[in-house]
Amino acid sequence: MIPSFSLLSSLFFLFLFLFPSPTIPSLTELPTLMAIKASLDPQNELLASWIPNTDPCSGSFEGVACDKQGRVANISLQGKGLSGTVPAALAELKSLTGLYLHFNALTGKIPKDIARLTQLSDLYLNVNNLSGEIPADIGKMYNLQVLQLCCNRLTGGIPTQVGNMWRLSVLALQYNHLTGAIPASLGNLPMLTRLDLSFNRLFGPIPVKLVNAPILEVLDIRNNSLSGIVPSALKRLHGGFQYKNNPGLCGVGFSNLSICKATDGLNPNRPEPIEPGNPSTKTLPETVPLKSECSKNQCPQPSKPHQVGVVLVVIGVIIIALAVSGIFTFAWYRQQKQKIGSAIDTSDSRLRTDQVKEIYRKSASPLISLEYSNGWDPMAKGRSGFSKEVLESFMFNLEDVERATQCFSKVNLLGKSNFSAMYKGILGDGSVVAIKCIAKTSCKSDEAEFLKGLKILTSLEHENLVGLRGFCCSKGRGECFLIYDFVPNGCLSEYLDVKGGSGKVLEWTARVSIINGIAKGIGYLHGNKGNRPPIVHQNISAEKVLIDGWYNPLLSDSGLHKLLADDIVFSTLKASAAMGYLAPEYTTTGRFTEKSNVFAFGMIIFQIIAGKRIITQLIRQGVESCRFEDFVDMNLEGKFLESEAAKLGRIALLCTHENANQRPSMESVMQELSVRIGS
Ligand SMILES: *[C@@H]1O[C@H](CO)[C@@H](O)[C@H](O)[C@H]1NC(C)=O
Ligand SMILES: *[C@@H]1O[C@H](CO)[C@@H](O)[C@H](O)[C@H]1NC(C)=O
Repeated sequence: MIPSFSLLSSLFFLFLFLFPSPTIPSLTELPTLMAIKASLDPQNELLASWIPNTDPCSGSFEGVACDKQGRVANISLQGKGLSGTVPAALAELKSLTGLYLHFNALTGKIPKDIARLTQLSDLYLNVNNLSGEIPADIGKMYNLQVLQLCCNRLTGGIPTQVGNMWRLSVLALQYNHLTGAIPASLGNLPMLTRLDLSFNRLFGPIPVKLVNAPILEVLDIRNNSLSGIVPSALKRLHGGFQYKNNPGLCGVGFSNLSICKATDGLNPNRPEPIEPGNPSTKTLPETVPLKSECSKNQCPQPSKPHQVGVVLVVIGVIIIALAVSGIFTFAWYRQQKQKIGSAIDTSDSRLRTDQVKEIYRKSASPLISLEYSNGWDPMAKGRSGFSKEVLESFMFNLEDVERATQCFSKVNLLGKSNFSAMYKGILGDGSVVAIKCIAKTSCKSDEAEFLKGLKILTSLEHENLVGLRGFCCSKGRGECFLIYDFVPNGCLSEYLDVKGGSGKVLEWTARVSIINGIAKGIGYLHGNKGNRPPIVHQNISAEKVLIDGWYNPLLSDSGLHKLLADDIVFSTLKASAAMGYLAPEYTTTGRFTEKSNVFAFGMIIFQIIAGKRIITQLIRQGVESCRFEDFVDMNLEGKFLESEAAKLGRIALLCTHENANQRPSMESVMQELSVRIGS
């Protein structure tokens, strides 16, 4: 019976060979991935991890995530600096559900083959240099939920067929050169929540049918050349409907729109534009058959019985083939299998432990949140209790933040702490900002408390505090973002412990004015301007004092502790205790008072005068006995005013008094400073 057993087992292995087991399909997609790489990264510099003869599903291919069947499910290469073209070969990745190529420098057209990706749900090609028209075939992608094409140079019209993508939830085409009309077919989309067509060259009326989209929340058509009557039903979108800078629009009940004249609806001089992509659209039924089919869950899907049939037929073929090629085939197969196996092994052994973790984290970290329009839940309409003015001037959306930071590109990472990351960014208006990203888990879990803190942050404004530009909370990303003015000259601690001649030695007058500025900033926080209770900063240190282009000091993170969870606040305190900023009474009372800020301020005065981070007993004694060589920075080479140094030293001593009651208030410190050594 042994021969027939080996016959059976060789049949089995041959079967495996012809019908690859779950780990093998990825290898069949390997040539496609190599073609994609060649197209996206023609210089072959940026996708070094995409190596031929490697299993792309092993986790080693940057940005590639596979499904359980070993097929490529997501490609996320946003913000990678890719400068090639969007490859038509993508269409071969039949199981692709997410394609994230935004924030790159891709050029050329969107290939129409991409429409064959019928499993795709997310297509992000925004912020590239794509040109040409949006292919009309795109309407065949009936699983697409998010189509992001903003900020390219796309021309032509919006294809009517977009109205066939019945699952579409976000359609973002803003900042392109699109012309023609808004297709009425968009009103067919039952899932559409956000439609952004702003900053294009669209003309003609707003189709009345658009009002039919049942769950539409955001309709942005700013800066186009649309004309005619604005359907009054759009009022239900409230602030979600944005229509500025369309000189031809008119309507009742919309601010800044004139009442329509009799001729506005039917301007004889301007024939209604023909909807692009399908000139005869008006004669077609408005509802596409596909939609009703799909809503009955009868979408064309690979049918199982059919597959089984194929399998049976092929098994028959195998048996015949076996009879012909027999053991030779089996031997050859084993050789092949070994080759593949060793390729996988080597790729595995190159990636051990933490490296593997890192890569998995990378390839599994997708991506991006689907919700763009709404903030984090606390912000949900009306509930936040923010005034309309505050919301309008401070609320950013995730898209703004992503665009500013080029999708949190590493290039823009300024720094990381145990609970936050800081990115540099550029806003749409060209201003440079620093964006602090805080995980939701590090924030106060009580929404009301959190909002209260946020409100305090938005109320702070002083020339010696880093200005808050806005905030954004994303439920999808689980993060909150605080957007601050960017301060160009780093933080005060960078000017401590520097070598003479390094160019970072602050002159005496700069030191005095920095001390003055910090005092004013803290004094502002302690004052109770306009009913706001005094704020105790809790984390004043040389790291928190930023230096602007004119060497003015700006206190950062003011009020931040009002947003953070208690354990996070404690962990930041540990660091400031280690640096000597923490007032002694904190260890006994566990409470922060204005006097503890005064203590930290005193430490900073010492640091600035001495040019040193660590304040030793020698420095204190130097002040007490007026031995300038012991407490004034040697790098100044004697260029300082002894009277000022002595005065500042004494203030520092007072501020750092062991007994909190003996420390002066910030107000009297400010007075002292201005009387004696100010201006
Ligand atoms: C692909 O991305 C989507 C959206 O982010 C995610 O839900 C899904 O789990 C990803 N699939 C794989 C296999 O990583
Ligand atoms: C939007 O339109 C206004 C008014 O026509 C114009 O001043 C502004 O420059 C436009 N903005 C952009 C980004 O095109």
